[in-house]
Amino acid sequence: AQAVPSLWGIPLKYISLVTLALQNSLLTIIMHYSRVSTPPSRAYSAATAVLMNELLKGSISLLIAFSRIELPSIPQASYKDISQTTSYPASWFAPRLVSARIRRLWKDVFSADCWKLSIPAILYVIQNNLQYVAASNLDAATFQVSYQMKILTTAGFSVLLLRKRLAPTQWLALLFLAIGVGIVQIQGSTSHSAVIINDMNAMKGFLAVAAACFTSGLAGVYFEMVLKNSQADLWVRNVQLSLFSLLPAIAPILYDHGSEGFSAFSTLFRNFGFWAWATVLVQVLGGLITAMVIKYSDNILKGFATSLSIVISFLASVALFNFQMTFTFILGSVVVLIATWLYNQQPKPKPNILVTTTDH
Ligand code: C5P
Repeated sequence: AQAVPSLWGIPLKYISLVTLALQNSLLTIIMHYSRVSTPPSRAYSAATAVLMNELLKGSISLLIAFSRIELPSIPQASYKDISQTTSYPASWFAPRLVSARIRRLWKDVFSADCWKLSIPAILYVIQNNLQYVAASNLDAATFQVSYQMKILTTAGFSVLLLRKRLAPTQWLALLFLAIGVGIVQIQGSTSHSAVIINDMNAMKGFLAVAAACFTSGLAGVYFEMVLKNSQADLWVRNVQLSLFSLLPAIAPILYDHGSEGFSAFSTLFRNFGFWAWATVLVQVLGGLITAMVIKYSDNILKGFATSLSIVISFLASVALFNFQMTFTFILGSVVVLIATWLYNQQPKPKPNILVTTTDH
């Protein structure tokens, strides 16, 4: 039997799900705080944050992918042989093997099918930029609840691309989800909560969330499809994803600052203080955990983790940002949580009834 991947005896599946729930809440709060705690004139560049996220995530994935390459420990083997076989683990630091590892990794990363990652890469960069628009224009809890609409888009794309079949209760849950998010939106557009420090534009925020839900569903399902339809290592796939993200992440920066030449470099990090870096680091962590959840678990359990994070960030929002609980907000959140729970109810497998014919 195959060993379950684990850390200190706890299956990675559970570690990744719990960490994802905590990371989701932390990110919502930190990102929101980093955007609204300063006046718009002193805001940091979201495009720089997205680029830093991809660079850091890509570098970490590269190191992990590098450390996971297994080479044969045959002293006589030529470099060529070593870089083309994967069998026994070999000593780490022998220079000859390091060079063989680099060649092997290069081959894996620039594989014939690496272009497949360009689609989720572009979608994720758009999504990561949209998240900043949403976090700047909605309060943390409203953003978090509305973002649950991604379960709807994930389901839609799973049916379309992965040919997944949904049970009637799951379709019903999706309907509840839409209603719940609708209730929260009514609350969002009528409340005058104390968190409005800068000019927050709820309409702009909701449009950004809706678009982010679309890209989240499509990118997530596409990544799952690429990952599960091939033998390639998860971390190699992550490196490919980050490489393809670089161009769309750099494009808005060039568009804004291209004419400034080298002096643009200093403007990139203008106002990029502690909270901006904290947001980037938590987002890097989230990217790495999301990839692990898609690999070691599934989208159903990922839904559970995110619904748990609604409650966590909701309570934190009340404590930290003076977020005012209204009846409609609580009602909407409860409907979203019930819908998430209902969607995650696995339909019981039908018992195998032996049909015997009585015709003679
Ligand atoms: O909200 P959602 O679960 O779609 O967010 C996924 C996040 O995880 C995105 O920010 C995306 O950049 C990141 N991600 C990643 N590597 C993957 C899959 C997702 O960094 N392999």
